[in-house]
Amino acid sequence: MAKLWGGRFERTTDRLVETLGASVAFDARLAPWDIRASIAHARMLGDTGIIARADARKIIRGLNDIARDIAKVAFAWDPALEDVHTNIEAALVARIGDAGKRLHTARSRNDQVATDVRLWLRDQIDAVIGMIREFCGNLLDFAEKHCEAVLPGFTHLQPAQPVLLGHHLHAYVEMFLRDRDRFAEVRERVNVLPLGAAALAGTPHPIDREQVARELGFRAVAANSMDAVSDRDYLIEFCGAAAICMMHLSRMCEELILWSTPRFGFIEIGDAFTTGSSIMPQKKNPDVAELVRGKTARVYGDLMALLTLMKGLPLTYNRDLQEDKEQIFDVSDTLQVCLAVMTRMLPSVRVNAAAMRQAALEGFMEATDVADYLVARGMPFREAHELVGKIVLQCIRDGKRLPDMTLKEFREFSPLFDKSISETLRLEAVVRRRDHPGGTAPRRVRAALRRARGRLRG
Ligand code: ARG
Repeated sequence: MAKLWGGRFERTTDRLVETLGASVAFDARLAPWDIRASIAHARMLGDTGIIARADARKIIRGLNDIARDIAKVAFAWDPALEDVHTNIEAALVARIGDAGKRLHTARSRNDQVATDVRLWLRDQIDAVIGMIREFCGNLLDFAEKHCEAVLPGFTHLQPAQPVLLGHHLHAYVEMFLRDRDRFAEVRERVNVLPLGAAALAGTPHPIDREQVARELGFRAVAANSMDAVSDRDYLIEFCGAAAICMMHLSRMCEELILWSTPRFGFIEIGDAFTTGSSIMPQKKNPDVAELVRGKTARVYGDLMALLTLMKGLPLTYNRDLQEDKEQIFDVSDTLQVCLAVMTRMLPSVRVNAAAMRQAALEGFMEATDVADYLVARGMPFREAHELVGKIVLQCIRDGKRLPDMTLKEFREFSPLFDKSISETLRLEAVVRRRDHPGGTAPRRVRAALRRARGRLRG
């Protein structure tokens, strides 16, 4: 097959150059978006009189035929034709003849590929936003169902203060709601039309960029032709948002993994989302959570690859840019499969509230509240902190928990203690006292979950 740019060449391309440069093996997936953009371009060429309307109609019909064949997997991709754009254009010329040769008027593959990728990415972002919404919906169901189970809150992975499970899970809901907002913001910057930039400087043809933007649903046309064909910041932003979202998924997975080990025993992940061991019959491994945690690494790698790809490129288009495709496809695919599997896995998780409560009773997590108790009775916080530290040390020596101490024993440390200390130490009371917006008191957590549900719908 002759190259579309063969005119100024006397010899054929080296076989290895084709191997190095052919992208159709991975960019063929852009075909539906490439064809949509070409149809809009052809219509504009016809409407502005840059080509005959009859030719535009033929082109559009030919492109629709090709789209149907591609969807039926009845299209022969040829790596010798380099990429998705040249494959489709060559097929168009083969099918409709001379009219097909007019499609590339006032256009370059440089503005074409940028347009295709923006269209593709816009759809991926919409899919991702929908998936985050579904995932958060399940997360909220889960949080509401087990809202008042008390478990240890950790800092440094050391027992810190008891919290409600609903509170703990709501923390993740907030992270994923921010992820959703981030993707929506990236979408705004993605949603700009490069077409019309042509190779880099624009075109002498009397094009109507606004018409193309309208047909393709872009909110604006790119303000600078050189910028339009050469920057990929929107891809980096997308990968950045994806990396952050994967980081959130990964942290959550890390907790699910910890919580499901028998040493914690807080949860059991359903059979459909765990695997056994080929040698140890007793095993039930949280592979799904581990894989999501692991896949986070590849998304970070893709993001780093894109940043590195861009850092030394002079304006404008450079062929290096072809190396953005596999990264963005990988990021999008990885994020979407991880969100989907996590959404399905959540409802399979069984909670062992008794084990959580038992763990919350260990580790002296009422200690801060004992100090606050003394503060309420006039002791300076620093002094109270020191004193309660001594009480905890005594408990450790005696093999006791704070609630096991008698009032007499408390009063040996300070006369400020009275019989109300036993109520102060109850886990439920400890949690209930964090009664302000953002705190772990049950009514505050329920209200926060309700508000999050509203934002999810909004
Ligand atoms: N396959 C190319 C890419 O992904 C399309 C643009 C080619 N442009 C060019 N001047 N060779 O970047």
